[in-house]
Amino acid sequence: MRPVRWRGAAATLAAGLAFGVTAAGCSGAAGSPRWARQAALDSTLPRAVEPASVAGLETVTRSESDARRRLFTSYPIVPGAGPLTDRLDQAVDDLTDPYERESAGEKPGVLVPELNVQWTLTAASGSVVGVRLVSRQSQGAEAGETRRTYWYDGLAGWAVGSDALVNGENALNRLASIVRARIEAKADPERVTAVPATFASMAFNTDGDLVVEFSDHSVAPSAPGRVAVALPASEFEPLLSDLGRRARAASLTPRPRLTLASGVPAPTRTNRARPRSARVNCDVAKCLALTFDDGPGPDTSRLLDELDHAHARATFFVVGANASAHPRLLRRMADAGHEIGDHTRGHHDLTRLAPIQVHAEVQQTQDAVRQITGRAPVLLRPPYGASNGVVGDVARSLGLVQSLWNVDTLDWRDQDASTVADRAVDGARAGGVILMHDTYGTSVDAVPQIVARLKGEGYTLVTVSDLLTSRHARHPRPGDRFAGW
Ligand code: NI
Repeated sequence: MRPVRWRGAAATLAAGLAFGVTAAGCSGAAGSPRWARQAALDSTLPRAVEPASVAGLETVTRSESDARRRLFTSYPIVPGAGPLTDRLDQAVDDLTDPYERESAGEKPGVLVPELNVQWTLTAASGSVVGVRLVSRQSQGAEAGETRRTYWYDGLAGWAVGSDALVNGENALNRLASIVRARIEAKADPERVTAVPATFASMAFNTDGDLVVEFSDHSVAPSAPGRVAVALPASEFEPLLSDLGRRARAASLTPRPRLTLASGVPAPTRTNRARPRSARVNCDVAKCLALTFDDGPGPDTSRLLDELDHAHARATFFVVGANASAHPRLLRRMADAGHEIGDHTRGHHDLTRLAPIQVHAEVQQTQDAVRQITGRAPVLLRPPYGASNGVVGDVARSLGLVQSLWNVDTLDWRDQDASTVADRAVDGARAGGVILMHDTYGTSVDAVPQIVARLKGEGYTLVTVSDLLTSRHARHPRPGDRFAGW
């Protein structure tokens, strides 16, 4: 029998994604900044800083999908904070390695196991960066989340765990007893031990309270969901280390600005948008759509140069945090006539989520793209192509066509430009939709030869919406699935 790590099914699922639901639920409110509204709804959520406030921030995104497992991981690279990158890279490896070992022995089933690692910035100002990683693993009908927050101290030049926010062992002991007294109704106080592993995720909310949160089932073995407390300053202030005090100040800065040495890279070249050419008539032209998922990433700018150079259009299915981190790239895509589609906020398998969560996951990327480009996506690509009636209903309610593909380059598996190019070209057909990922450098490397070879075969490279306007597409309506003609 397979060991089960987490128990408690449906309730855990509902509680686990509360962050996404809360954040999307307030997206319509006006007046106060978004982070302030978010905090007003749940004081035990740490502040989430907009990634776009960190100049030059990049992300490392990996996604894989086969019959045995689904995996999506992402973490940020903050310029000038190399040790933090190493620490996050190691943390993500520590999460994915056991999952990969376990899932290698799985028999392909109906519910494919899923691992999803998301990040948020809890602070990015002065000399301090905080990054919170939430890892969600689903196995069968069970799911559980682990939470870790890492801190970078730009003065010392090192990355540390959350326990470094307090001043040594005595302070950690004192903190443990404060937390024990606070959480007795929600958890087993005995399990709140005064060791660094217990206090692996600490950050500050927008009021400056210290948020102490735990991984599922760590301090509350039988109760599903997230256990967290927000402590007022009077209780924890004397316990803070020097880093802790600076981290709190950084978390309270309304307009975060990092001042790490070599932290601000030279401004990237901004290409002037080429005037949009007339719409291609795909009733007569041999049209084909290249699609790039999961980005933008570090190689997306180069990809846009290539597409620009080749006068080719493509469709980018962007995910929440990567889109928010790259507003300039999104505007550049839109200006160049590419299409931006919705690949959800957190790249979860939507078929595992409740309707309200599916709605929130989709809506949040709608909002992010509209905020940046002035126009919300009209296409939804469900992560892993996994869809069901609920996903269809949500897509319909938001006026989105579900955009799938009929050529998979498997570029995440074979990170080799020639192999990827061969798959794209061999699978090409009129009305085809080719799946690639601009989060892999090798996929971007493959694009010049793909474009040249396809053009040699008489194809016109268009967006998915261009394909949809053709009579060959048989006019799919919102909610319908479209995977090429
Ligand atoms: Ni994807």
